[in-house]
Amino acid sequence: MDAGLGRWPRCAGALTAGGLLAAAAAGSAAAAEPALLDAARGVPLPPDCGAFQGAVWMLLALLALQSTAVGFLCWRLRRRRQAEEQLRAGEERFRLLVESSQVASYLIDRDGAIHYANRALCAMFGYQQQDVVGKLGLSSLIAPDDLQRVLENSRQRLDGLPAPSRYEAGGVHRNGEPIDLEITGSSASLGGSALLAGSLLDVSRLKRAESLLSQERAQREEMTRNLEERIREEVDRSREKDRLMLQQSRFAAMGEMIGNIAHQWRQPLNKLGIVLQRLQMEQENGELTETLMEQRVGDGMGLLLGLSRTIDDFRNFFRPEAAPEPFSLAGAVVKTVRFFEASCADYHIRIVIEGDSSLIYNGHVVEFRQALLNILNNARDAHLERGGADPSITVGLRDEEHRCVLTVRDNAGGVDPAIIDKIFDPYFTTRGMGNRTGIGLYMAKTIIDQQMQGRIMVRNMLDGAEFRIVL
Ligand SMILES: Nc1ncnc2c1ncn2[C@@H]1O[C@H](COP(=O)(O)OP(=O)(O)OP(=O)(O)O)[C@@H](O)[C@H]1O
Ligand SMILES: [Mg+2]
Repeated sequence: MDAGLGRWPRCAGALTAGGLLAAAAAGSAAAAEPALLDAARGVPLPPDCGAFQGAVWMLLALLALQSTAVGFLCWRLRRRRQAEEQLRAGEERFRLLVESSQVASYLIDRDGAIHYANRALCAMFGYQQQDVVGKLGLSSLIAPDDLQRVLENSRQRLDGLPAPSRYEAGGVHRNGEPIDLEITGSSASLGGSALLAGSLLDVSRLKRAESLLSQERAQREEMTRNLEERIREEVDRSREKDRLMLQQSRFAAMGEMIGNIAHQWRQPLNKLGIVLQRLQMEQENGELTETLMEQRVGDGMGLLLGLSRTIDDFRNFFRPEAAPEPFSLAGAVVKTVRFFEASCADYHIRIVIEGDSSLIYNGHVVEFRQALLNILNNARDAHLERGGADPSITVGLRDEEHRCVLTVRDNAGGVDPAIIDKIFDPYFTTRGMGNRTGIGLYMAKTIIDQQMQGRIMVRNMLDGAEFRIVL
């Protein structure tokens, strides 16, 4: 009894707690068994109620199990709802992203049927979304000439075969206008079917800019070609002009030289005349012995030889050599001065040659002589114009830091400073129209600069001008 009584309170205590739980969880079971309710309320039960007690326990366990299972199902349900909501939110985000993207995106199958096209794609081609998806194929968007190639590329990518992942093709707007497209695509699988996910970029503006650029480039190249052609023509024309001017200047120099030859001939011709007159007088006076005759003939022949040599020198003076050759600068100066000095003799202009006589230069001696003659002629002309006392022209030759330097200096008062910067220009002269051409110094500069790779400069000294040629 005590033992039984001793168990009840425990049993009752346990029932009280479990019973409250069970009662809260399953009210119907408590209604069906009032005894259980008594037990739950802590009403003592008769001591011989073992089987009943077991059944109560069993029932309570079942009820607890049921409640746990219900809780578990509720938890599963909640998790599933959460997952669905997350999925929906993810899908929404993804849709938002694709739909608001500026890149036109699509999904097509291997026949080119469009399974999905985003807003940007529809806007690009001028369609409403509902008119495109499931209704149009690539043939409505791609230019007929390129359609086959685009489909072929798409299929090859779907089949995992090598195909360009980015290429260009022509598209057609709904209104028929062409669109330049850049297409990228990669294979995807949706619901078990293979689809090609692609994107399109409208590169029409880029293409137009490119074509404008290449047109401009072509125009520029054309202009450059024309310019080069014109420059070539101008250079040829200028060369031809220089050649003609050189010839003109040479003719002018030759004209002067003929004048000089006339000067040079006058003296020997006079002498020859005297020899002949003497011969006649000696013959009339009976003084003409054989020896005297030989002497007079010798004198005459000597003078004639001199005249002939002058003609030969003149011929050689302007005879151009084919190739540049080393020549003695002093030799060229002496030869030029020999021709030139005859034209100075009447005006008592002194000509001095001084300096280093060993200088050798490799070039065209004829042209060098012509340049020098033009400078000498100017110095003489300046003396004739100004008419100062003790007129002189000094030609100097020096080696300065391994460069040959030739100076022509006069004491005729110098070049007017107002025009000194222009005297090498073609056709610049202060010596009266018709009389002079004004190309003497231009030719001298052209020869020195271009043919002898030298430099020619002018400066005024105390009493005259100095022309300086550096070779
Ligand atoms: N030694 C000089 N002294 C003063 N002026 C000079 C001297 N040399 C040249 N000039 C000036 O330079 C100008 C140009 O000389 P340039 O030899 O080119 O032509 P030009 O002598 O006038 O004519 P051209 O030589 O064609 O017969 C001369 O008109 C003259 O005014
Ligand atoms: Mg001159």
